[in-house]
Amino acid sequence: MSDFPSWAARIQARTESVLSTLLPSVDVAPQRLHTAMRYSILGGGKRVRPLLAHAAGELFGSHADKVDYAAAAVEMIHAYSLVHDDMPCMDDDDLRRGKPSCHKQFDDATALLVGDALQSLAFQTLARPELCKDAQQQMKMIHLLAIASGSRGMAGGQAIDLASVGISLTQQELEFMHIHKTGALIRAAALLGAYCAEAPEDSRLQALDRYAKCIGLAFQVVDDILDNQADTATLGKTAGKDAENNKPTYVTILGLARAKEFARELHTEALDSIAPFGADGQRLAQLADFITERSF
Ligand code: IPE
Ligand code: IPE
Ligand code: MG
Ligand code: MG
Ligand code: MG
Repeated sequence: MSDFPSWAARIQARTESVLSTLLPSVDVAPQRLHTAMRYSILGGGKRVRPLLAHAAGELFGSHADKVDYAAAAVEMIHAYSLVHDDMPCMDDDDLRRGKPSCHKQFDDATALLVGDALQSLAFQTLARPELCKDAQQQMKMIHLLAIASGSRGMAGGQAIDLASVGISLTQQELEFMHIHKTGALIRAAALLGAYCAEAPEDSRLQALDRYAKCIGLAFQVVDDILDNQADTATLGKTAGKDAENNKPTYVTILGLARAKEFARELHTEALDSIAPFGADGQRLAQLADFITERSF
């Protein structure tokens, strides 16, 4: 097995190239919209969701070229969520992935449409006939991504986030918000990677799902900590934005030390969940480390 940094670099490069092929060229009309879509998704980001899809795909014996489509679909939803998240009506953030946010580089209406169009392209990609021989299984995948993206997933979590400005949530309420706004897509990424295999076993899917739930929540706990602790140059997005926008986070609710401890607890629980995979779960374990130890 290759070391984690080389494996991650290979999947990140692969994701970049697949996305670049799937996105309409800047020469195709409407050119400004296509330019803004490519601007928002290419050339940046950690690609954590594609990494998870591929790690799960490798574990379940999925073909990497099928996982490419599933991973690209999730990354498109994720990129759209970031474009909308940065708009003045949401977090009003001018910087994303070290560049001006989409609405700053282009304009609000274009940013809105970039999100709309990336969302459609995600489902177009997941519905590609090459993705899966079994139409029923493919329907299940489309259904899964739809739920993870919609009002009972990411979009719902974002609605709770906006409704929580200036409010002190209980830890349970905060967890509900984070599981939806961030956890749902991370969970979908892992499951979709596994669903690209011909007959993924239920008990194995359940173990993967438990891992992904823990790591999805841990991801946002760490995001909250980094917003509070890291600097703008390292993050590539404006540090301190949560405090500025008066958002309840794990840092405001638990305090920094307890928030860090909670991320470590979730990390341990994620590793426990994949224990049944033995040594085959190593890539997922490395990803859990990466997600909890990251500095941006
Ligand atoms: C940021 O996600 C928004 C959250 C869901 C916390 P990422 O930290 O995965 O952002 P990129 O894709 O690496 O830029
Ligand atoms: C956003 O959470 C989650 C999304 C669904 C985009 P944040 O608002 O904390 O994400 P960042 O910190 O701006 O990346
Ligand atoms: Mg936000
Ligand atoms: Mg934000
Ligand atoms: Mg944040």
